[in-house]
Parts: sequence; structure tokens; C-alpha cells
Amino acid sequence: MSRLVVVSNRVTAVTDKKAKAGGLAVALQDALQEHGGVWFGWSGKVSPNPSSTPEKKQVGTVTYATIDLSRKLYNEYYSGFANRTLWPLFHYRLDLTAFSKQNYSGYQQVNTLFASKLLPLLEDDDLIWVHDYHLMPLGDELRKAGVTRPIGFFLHTPFPAMEILTALPSHKTLVKALCAYDVIGFQTENDLRAFLDYIVHEAGGGIMGNHLVHVFGRTIRVEIFPIGIDTEDIVKTARQTMRSGRKLRSKDMPGEREWIIGVDRLDYSKGLVDRFHSFQRLLETYAAYRGRVTFMQIAPPSRSEVPEYKEIRHELEAQAGHINGRFAEYDWVPINYLNKSFTRKELVGFYQASRIGLVTPLRDGMNLVAKEYVASQNPQDPGVLVLSRFAGAARELDTALIVNPFDYDAVAEAIAKGLDMPLEERRERWAAMMEVLRHNTLGVWRDNFLDVLSNCPYDS
Ligand code: F6P
Repeated sequence: MSRLVVVSNRVTAVTDKKAKAGGLAVALQDALQEHGGVWFGWSGKVSPNPSSTPEKKQVGTVTYATIDLSRKLYNEYYSGFANRTLWPLFHYRLDLTAFSKQNYSGYQQVNTLFASKLLPLLEDDDLIWVHDYHLMPLGDELRKAGVTRPIGFFLHTPFPAMEILTALPSHKTLVKALCAYDVIGFQTENDLRAFLDYIVHEAGGGIMGNHLVHVFGRTIRVEIFPIGIDTEDIVKTARQTMRSGRKLRSKDMPGEREWIIGVDRLDYSKGLVDRFHSFQRLLETYAAYRGRVTFMQIAPPSRSEVPEYKEIRHELEAQAGHINGRFAEYDWVPINYLNKSFTRKELVGFYQASRIGLVTPLRDGMNLVAKEYVASQNPQDPGVLVLSRFAGAARELDTALIVNPFDYDAVAEAIAKGLDMPLEERRERWAAMMEVLRHNTLGVWRDNFLDVLSNCPYDS
């Protein structure tokens, strides 16, 4: 098999155990270790004088090559167009979407820069796999630099409905550049449908069948590849957790309490404000749970320089304080709100100890926390997943308690139902979800995408 070249905005240091807590980093590292190759991207560092050549680090067969960004490009590309324009827009938050020509130009410049620095690292047979919304124009930049090999792109976020996307002044330039890739992968049917809608009704392209579309003079393959988790690895960790006896289960806690857990980057798309409201509604409506359930929300800060992220952090602090102030007793605090990250092993322990996994994003490409929560459960006494219908994972995990996160009464009711759910029903629902997770693993996701990419005919 050819060497694999992965390109993503951030290249996670392989030694950073906390980064192994889930998501993109795990997916990419596992794929690279298997095939050997290069992982190229931003170092995560801002430098006054970025070096003209990438910094390289060799780990086994994998070269990690990174570049620093100037403060100006970091502001315009990362904090600007990627995270103040594309991120909110792709998560249906037009109200938070900032449009700026200067940021768009910085975004373009970084994509051109990435292409020029990546080019010397490429070998003839490489399979090139680009990730996420930061790098939508990269394929086009590589084409301009003379790369004719197939290049694949996977979008980890949702792809928004045409009516949302067309609010972006540069939507056509962006989608045209995106179509320089040969394979474009989406998380769910919804995202693919939104993309096809745009291709047909806005770009004047045609759907040819067999996953192919013809648009902007090219034929490209578009398909869904729902990202999975390393299910067996989590199951193994979960078994160790059970054996070690280090649990948070209610019987080990003072006062026979049940735990509800949420784990999210501190991001407005995760629906944390609404989730806190729903928990408050639970305490208001079902007074019997007061003193009996504790909600642990883990939310490591993210993109802290972006104003909207600062705001949500303040809002959540105030909200947690308000709920705790209103309901706490001398021996019970309703919300345990933690702005820090934990290792994957610690999270598996927390998931296993929690009767409810509360995953209620307002919009999410997939949401791997939902999958990891399920895989971490004790098969004999599994917890209940309460999952937003707007998470990509809801398509696959349809025996979770599926909720509308905007409907606080319904979320509170689902939590109450989960807390009281008989063991047999919990086992049935959990077994159905585990079957999906065992079938569609991270490895399957990777192999499916790379299979399609490596069998892709040249079209340059
Ligand atoms: O899921 C989207 C994503 O951008 C991932 O690519 C990334 O791992 C995660 O969010 C964290 O975001 P950031 O790199 O901006 O901290």
C-alpha cells in the first residue's frame, strides 16, 4: 500500500497522552502508524519569524512535519475565518458568523502556504488525505502547484444546508476549490444531501450515480464515511477499570448518588447552556432527584482567544453558579463543572460510573463522546445514553434516548426515564448500540476512505 500523507490543521504530538482522549488525533495517528508516511500541519505555535522549512520529527515510520504561523495569519486564518466564520456557519449559527475579507484572505494564504511547504515532502505514489474545514482550498492549491494524484478530503463537521452556506459571501469560490479534491467524505447522509443540493441547485452540477458528481468541469466522488472509535481498545480499558474496582458508582459515593456525565470541548455548538437549563428543569420538575443525582460536566476550554468562546465560558460559569446556589445542600452540589481535561483512561472510568451519558450538541458532525460512553459501559449494568438528534452519531446510535436539545422538558424527561430505566431495557438498548460500534470502528472508517481514495481514477 502507498505511503499515506495526512494533512490537518493541528498535528498532535504523539507523546501527548491527553490528546489521546479521543477524536481526530486518535484517528489520524492510528491510520499513519499502519501505513507509514507524513502528517503535516500547523505546530499549534505562533512565532514572530516562522521558519521557512517545516520542523520534522520522526516516530517509527511516520514523519510529523509542522510549521508555525505568524500572529497575523493565526488571527486571520485560525481565530478568524476558520473559527469565527466557517465553524459557526457549519454549525448553523449564522448569528455568530463574522464575515471579513481580511480573514478570508488570511485563510487562503495559509492554504497556499501549506501547499508550498507540503510539496517538497511528497513522493509520487502518496495517498493524500486532507482533513476538515480549515483546509477546504488546499486540494486546489496543490493542483495549482502541479499535483495530479488523487487527493481526498474528509469533513469532520456538518456540511450546512444550502440556505445557510449561501450566506457566506465567498461560498462559490470555496465550494469550487473544494471540488478540486477527488474524493470528498462526509459524516452523515444529511451532510451529503446538503452538499448535493448545493452542487445541483447552486453550482449547476449533476449527480451521475455511483457516488459520482460532475461539477466545475470535474468528476468527483462524494460519499459518507461515519467516523467510528477504536471500540475494542475502549472495551479493554473499560474491563481494566471494572477489575481495578476504582469506580464512581453510586454505591461508592456518599448518599447513594447517581451520576450524569457530559464531556465536551467548551464550545457553543455543544449545547452546554441548554444542557444546564435541561438539568435545572429536571431538578425543578422531578424534585425526588434532588440530592440523588449529580451532573458532572467536563469542559476543557477551547479556542479561548475567539470572543464567542470567552462569552460562553462566562455564561456557563454564571449558570452553574446559579443552579448550584439555588439547589445545593450542605452535603450535595448538583453540578460538578470542571474546566480541565482528563486522560482517556480516566474518562472511561467516569463514563462507566455514570448512569447517564448526556450528549446534547445543538449541531455536531459526529460526536465521538457518545460512542465512547457506550463502549465504556459495564455489559452487566450499562448506563443510558441521552443523545441529541442533531449529533451525527444519532443516525447510528438510534437506540439511545434521542432528544431535541432545545426542548428542556423533553431532555429532563429523558434523563428521568434513563435514571429509572429497568436493567433489561438498558441492556437491550446498549447491546444494539454496541453492535453498531463493533461493526463500524475507526479502522473500518479509515479503510473505507482509503480504499475509495486508492481506487480513484486520475482526473486532472
Ligand atoms: O472537530 C473539529 C475540530 O476542529 C477538530 O479538527 C479538532 O481536533 C477539534 O475540533 C479541536 O479544535 P481546535 O484544533 O480548534 O482546538
